[in-house]
Amino acid sequence: MYRVIQWGTGAVGVEMMAAILDSRSDLELVGARVYSDAKDGADLGELLGRAPIGVRATTDADAILALDADCVLYTPRTARVDDVCAVLASGKNVATTAFMFHPRRMAPVDRDRVLAACEAGASSVHGSGLNPGNLSGVLPLALSGMSRRIDSITLQERADWSVYESTGITFDNMAFGQPVDSIGPTSTEFLAFNSSIFSEQVWFLGDALGADLDEVTADVEAVAAQRDHDIFGHPLRAGTTAGQRWSWKGLRAGETRVEIETLWTVGNEYPGHWPTPRHGWTLTIEGDPSMQTHFVSLASFTRAAEMAEHVRSANVATAMQVLNAVPAVCEAEPGFATSASLPLIYNSEAFGRQP
Ligand SMILES: NC(=O)c1ccc[n+]([C@@H]2O[C@H](COP(=O)([O-])OP(=O)(O)OC[C@H]3O[C@@H](n4cnc5c(N)ncnc54)[C@H](OP(=O)(O)O)[C@@H]3O)[C@@H](O)[C@H]2O)c1
Repeated sequence: MYRVIQWGTGAVGVEMMAAILDSRSDLELVGARVYSDAKDGADLGELLGRAPIGVRATTDADAILALDADCVLYTPRTARVDDVCAVLASGKNVATTAFMFHPRRMAPVDRDRVLAACEAGASSVHGSGLNPGNLSGVLPLALSGMSRRIDSITLQERADWSVYESTGITFDNMAFGQPVDSIGPTSTEFLAFNSSIFSEQVWFLGDALGADLDEVTADVEAVAAQRDHDIFGHPLRAGTTAGQRWSWKGLRAGETRVEIETLWTVGNEYPGHWPTPRHGWTLTIEGDPSMQTHFVSLASFTRAAEMAEHVRSANVATAMQVLNAVPAVCEAEPGFATSASLPLIYNSEAFGRQP
């Protein structure tokens, strides 16, 4: 039995907590770190809208560090290396959706102090999710098992964020609704951070598959809204940023070998000059053989579901990729545990047991 703490109980965190309570005989939820005063002291069962479970949330990070636990599920809106170092040094492993996808290519100063914390606490840290995560890590590696030669890998993500209820991430962090000329790979602390994790993911594929990349570049084109929108009560004004086309390219001798491109809109105005892959994620490998796969998650392909439930399915996928990794992360050698160094993450109880 692994004792786990939820750090961040937003859209992704609540899916993890619900899964632990409903379907995991190997995981026990022993605490949660929250940020808002309204949630401080709340019972975790009640936070999920169910019967109390006798475990309370706290805004006190020190109280969390003092708890006896095997792993912290780290899913705050804004990730901090300091938090993770403190958790690791306290002897708890960390599994996160927020960052640490390919720590070898993190800023050296951060990488070194995370490693020192892992050594101090004999603990390990793993970052994954949907993208960055499975679709830009596990899936391309799995497909490469059928390759004789790879010339290039491209992952395109096409998504409209209007349906994504984490408006703190959409507007505060990703700066949708801000002036178009204020969007750049280093123009705010968060945009720089966000760009760095996708750059890391390009490095991850390049390093894991022997691409010998010289550099990874980051570019973004921001596009203005044609009209006003209302997104979960948050106004998006005409003329402000409603589209962001990001591209992170891993180059060898000037040629693109690995690319992640995101085609993100809010308000569903799709720029006419952008490429038009299907909604979701399209992974294309040019080589011998060339391969392409398209991924989309829904609440169901057979029964009718509300849009909100379909949207939630991506949070479930993000959350489960990391939750299902907890046993492997707890058993890993101290240090960085990546999608290339951990065994294949799968849910061996996905079908549930006979009642
Ligand atoms: N890898 C992937 O594929 C993937 C996909 C989706 C999301 N993510 C990442 O996963 C994380 C969680 O996403 P989410 O959609 O669950 O986010 P979210 O719903 O917006 O928020 C998560 C939590 O952040 C907390 N928070 C509030 N103020 C904060 C602050 N100043 N600093 C840090 N946290 C604060 C909130 O706490 P309270 O509830 O107490 O207010 C909330 O529970 C994010 O880092 C996101 O970027 C990764």
